[in-house]
Amino acid sequence: MSRFTNLAYLANMIGGAFGMMLATRMPQNMTNGNSTWGVIDAPVFPEYLTNNPLPNGKPWGNRHHHDNNPYFNIPNTGVTRYYDFDVRRAILAPDGYEKSGIFVNGQFPGPAIEANWGDWIEIRVHNNIEDAFGGKAEGTSMHFHGMTQKDTQWFDGVPGFTQCPIAPGSSFTYRFRADAYGTSWWHSHYSAQYTAGLWGPMIIYGPKHVPYDIDLGPVMLGDYYHSEYHDVVKAASSNSTDFNVYVPWSDNSLINGKNNYNCSMAADNSTCYSNAGVSQFRFVPGKTHRLRLMNTGAAALIHFSIDGHKMKVIANDFEPVVPYEADFVTLHVGQRTDVLVTADAQPKLSYWMRSTISLNCSVTYTTEAKAIVAYQGNSNIQLPNSTISAAAARADEKSFLCKNDDLEKTIPFFPQKLDLHPGTVETINVDLFTNATGHHVWIMNNATQYTNYNRPILLEAYKGNFSFPDPRANVYDFGTNKTVRIVLNTNYQSAHPMHLHGHNFQVLAEGPGPWDGKTIINPHNPLRRDTHVQRRYGHLVIQFTLDNPGVWSYHCHIAWHASMGLNIGVLERPAELSRAQIPFVMDQTCDNWNRWTSTHVVDQVDAGI
Ligand code: C2O
Repeated sequence: MSRFTNLAYLANMIGGAFGMMLATRMPQNMTNGNSTWGVIDAPVFPEYLTNNPLPNGKPWGNRHHHDNNPYFNIPNTGVTRYYDFDVRRAILAPDGYEKSGIFVNGQFPGPAIEANWGDWIEIRVHNNIEDAFGGKAEGTSMHFHGMTQKDTQWFDGVPGFTQCPIAPGSSFTYRFRADAYGTSWWHSHYSAQYTAGLWGPMIIYGPKHVPYDIDLGPVMLGDYYHSEYHDVVKAASSNSTDFNVYVPWSDNSLINGKNNYNCSMAADNSTCYSNAGVSQFRFVPGKTHRLRLMNTGAAALIHFSIDGHKMKVIANDFEPVVPYEADFVTLHVGQRTDVLVTADAQPKLSYWMRSTISLNCSVTYTTEAKAIVAYQGNSNIQLPNSTISAAAARADEKSFLCKNDDLEKTIPFFPQKLDLHPGTVETINVDLFTNATGHHVWIMNNATQYTNYNRPILLEAYKGNFSFPDPRANVYDFGTNKTVRIVLNTNYQSAHPMHLHGHNFQVLAEGPGPWDGKTIINPHNPLRRDTHVQRRYGHLVIQFTLDNPGVWSYHCHIAWHASMGLNIGVLERPAELSRAQIPFVMDQTCDNWNRWTSTHVVDQVDAGI
């Protein structure tokens, strides 16, 4: 399977030894393909994009994003940003271990989508996934995490919900408005396919509510698996009674697609090089930097810290918050946190940036991903010998319950009150269930979700068919209620980063045991975001406004849990759907998929999303 020669690697090692003081490092094209993520002096990010004609000054003028209605008063820039995604298999070795994956434009992590608040974004996705490198041709579908897709509900990218998968050899163009600003990511929503490498960052430039000097851009964190995603999903939903089989262990943890790996730990004899190299970041002395943290992994809860530096949290997901100091930041899968870091340490030294998998909440063979922070002017970058702060070292003790920061601490910068009389309240119990054949599935009120790729729920609803061909779709019809409150309770030991499509929700409460039906934190201005953790043995209460006709997934963002059915469909204002304009391409995509699946067997090993 190897396509790299030992010779090339040896040459690099020698070059490395003489050329720089860092430990050996593989060439970027071997580890990360065409991507430049993680290299020192990668370009920083602008305050806004200027390569298209602008109205006067900043594209958003004096606007701020002041309530949970992100499409309120959004600027009309008249600009569309175009992207072309070529999706195909390749072999890369991000951490030195060569494996087959699925990538966009040969890059891992994938390219950044960038736009100004109010722009339109158009992404043409070409499915070129073929039988190659030990994998098979398969469908795909792209999701733009955190975008509300208001009036573009067809482009949410959830196969079996909003569209048929894009068949191999076909293309599909997503078009939507950048109606919120801040930090997010895009990823495949087809099975657990994104964990094969099919994801990347998405930055929407907008007003600053706290000043800073330099935007260092995405700092992408997450666990990493050496096995094929199919195999991991199969193990997770298997009928094994061994906890260590149905709860998959990750092999490594990455920062911007890199980390070293100890090849003697590898489970097989795939080509593997230890000391592949870690990501590097440049700080300018005295300046304040914005880091856009995101957990783009599959399953692990992560604590992030930088030795010798304090952080200030300024946003969670797409919501600016009243800034607060932090020694470490906790992110579960799908969550983003923007932090400001002032470069006020000794500039001749370098420092470890750490992304640490919580061993309380997740299982892994490699706990820590590290990256190097070096100051500008330091041309002789040494491996840091910095140490983790006492507070960050104790992060995992504090997070024994696998939770986010206290709700009391996370206050939206632009206040919005809670509707104390929601139109409806739905209480859902979350549990792990062993079915008649001994296979593990997640259930929400006793039902596990299953996706029919050939009959997307949204397209059925559009045609006025609300009985849905497959009852396993797990759809909740919330009709025309003004607001909906969803109460999740669990008696089980797993925590779940719960993500709702189509909305920013308000987080009313989270805590131990079932919700008492009355406790609400900060009812005058509860936290808003699009992904929040339901702690183990605990509850999570969210509420949102039904202002977005469509079918929106509410699911656990742990890839393996979604694969095991921890997902419901939120059907919203269905009567208005049939009045919407459906793009012709939706039917075309299903035709292509139906044709392809009539001659190919789709190995749907999981719930489908
Ligand atoms: Cu990151 Cu269903 O989404």
